[in-house]
Amino acid sequence: MTTASPSMSSKEMIDACLKHSMFSWSATGKVSPVPVARAEGIYLYSPEGKRWIDFNSQLMSVNIGHGHPRVVKAIQDQAATLAYAYPGIATEIRARLSLKLAEIVPGNLNTFFYTLGGAEANENAIKAARLYTGRHKILVRHRSYHGGTHGAITLTGDPRRWPVEPGLPGVVRVMDPRPYEFSFGSNDAEIVANNLKYLEEIITYEGPQNIAAMFIETVTGTNGILPPPPGYLQGLKALLAKHGILLVCDEVMCGFGRTGRLFAFEHGGIVPDICTMAKGLTSSYLPLGVMALSDPIANHFRENVFWGGLTYNAHPMCLAAALAAIEVLLDEGMVENSARMGEVMRGHMARLAAKHRCVKEHRNIGLFGTIELQKNTRGERLVPYAGSHPAMAKLGGFLKENGLFTVLQWNLLMCNPPLSIDEAQMAEAFDIIDRGLDLVDEVVES
Ligand SMILES: Cc1ncc(COP(=O)(O)O)c(C=O)c1O
Repeated sequence: MTTASPSMSSKEMIDACLKHSMFSWSATGKVSPVPVARAEGIYLYSPEGKRWIDFNSQLMSVNIGHGHPRVVKAIQDQAATLAYAYPGIATEIRARLSLKLAEIVPGNLNTFFYTLGGAEANENAIKAARLYTGRHKILVRHRSYHGGTHGAITLTGDPRRWPVEPGLPGVVRVMDPRPYEFSFGSNDAEIVANNLKYLEEIITYEGPQNIAAMFIETVTGTNGILPPPPGYLQGLKALLAKHGILLVCDEVMCGFGRTGRLFAFEHGGIVPDICTMAKGLTSSYLPLGVMALSDPIANHFRENVFWGGLTYNAHPMCLAAALAAIEVLLDEGMVENSARMGEVMRGHMARLAAKHRCVKEHRNIGLFGTIELQKNTRGERLVPYAGSHPAMAKLGGFLKENGLFTVLQWNLLMCNPPLSIDEAQMAEAFDIIDRGLDLVDEVVES
């Protein structure tokens, strides 16, 4: 048989995948993948019918949930009509998706360059910012992830950058308003004011005339689900604008309803100069990223060459998946559901925080959430920065065994279900987490 056989057992799938394929960010001999044969709504199923709640929307990306028939049909129809077109060709699906994005993406972000994912969108944003400003330096923050390709991993602050350093020249890293241990102040206003003061000093040292852009995750994702403190986005935008520096918001993970608004920058009342998106753009039914340019930058590239291109730029099938996924997201009220169910999630998290001494704190904005675990009641993290702890592995094993798929990153338990989740499903997920946290409570020192 040459195609994927629907009759493989979990063991056969796992053995062959481990023997002949590589897994990201891992030593292949040390991974233990969940075997998934099919998925529907918020659930994943093994070949033998074991069911897991997908409490991380895979990679915080299947925003509308799995197996939505409208998206499946749109992909099938596009495949039958025009599966691929050379990037220089105008297609109806390219026209329709671009019109839709121009309508729903706020402000003057009206022009779109399509890529295959988030990293490529950021790579192209580096080029666009440098070409437009004629400057070369890029400011980025330590608590961040921007993708695995050479430039995007240099933008990244977290330890995934370390093995490939020195990386791209010209990248200057700064602390965001919520560094890991250090604090810029005792309340949000103080934190914002001090962080921006510190940033302006860095800009002075680097020479503002040399800095093209600053990249931020509008809400930081894998580095801790960190919504910006009130006033930060407006203050940052104004500070950068004062120095002619572009603001690039990476909404690859936090965009498309994840935070309870269509785009996370809407919470801060700003519009960036460039916005990069992926993941929720197609709800990951097919790979697609996009760089959205504001009008002045887009107009620059009407006269000047944009030195970027990809064989799969504006791939018709991926664009068809995006248009259908966006229509589902909007027509089925999932952005509103994300905001509403985010409150429900906060209630469950607060209940577990009161019950379990291993819970250090919890955060969420819409359905973008995390629970941080501690090793003692003094609030010391269970896992040091970039480290691990046997209790996290035990918790991971328990959740997997008991029907909950999620990502455990350092001392974080990720809570990012599809935006279609309802109250009963949320309660079911938190019941499993509740029982799992009992295991971590056992290792907490007083
Ligand atoms: C904020 C952010 N930016 C960029 C990326 C990279 O996207 P991709 O993996 O599609 O290249 C990710 C992926 O997790 C992300 O979370």
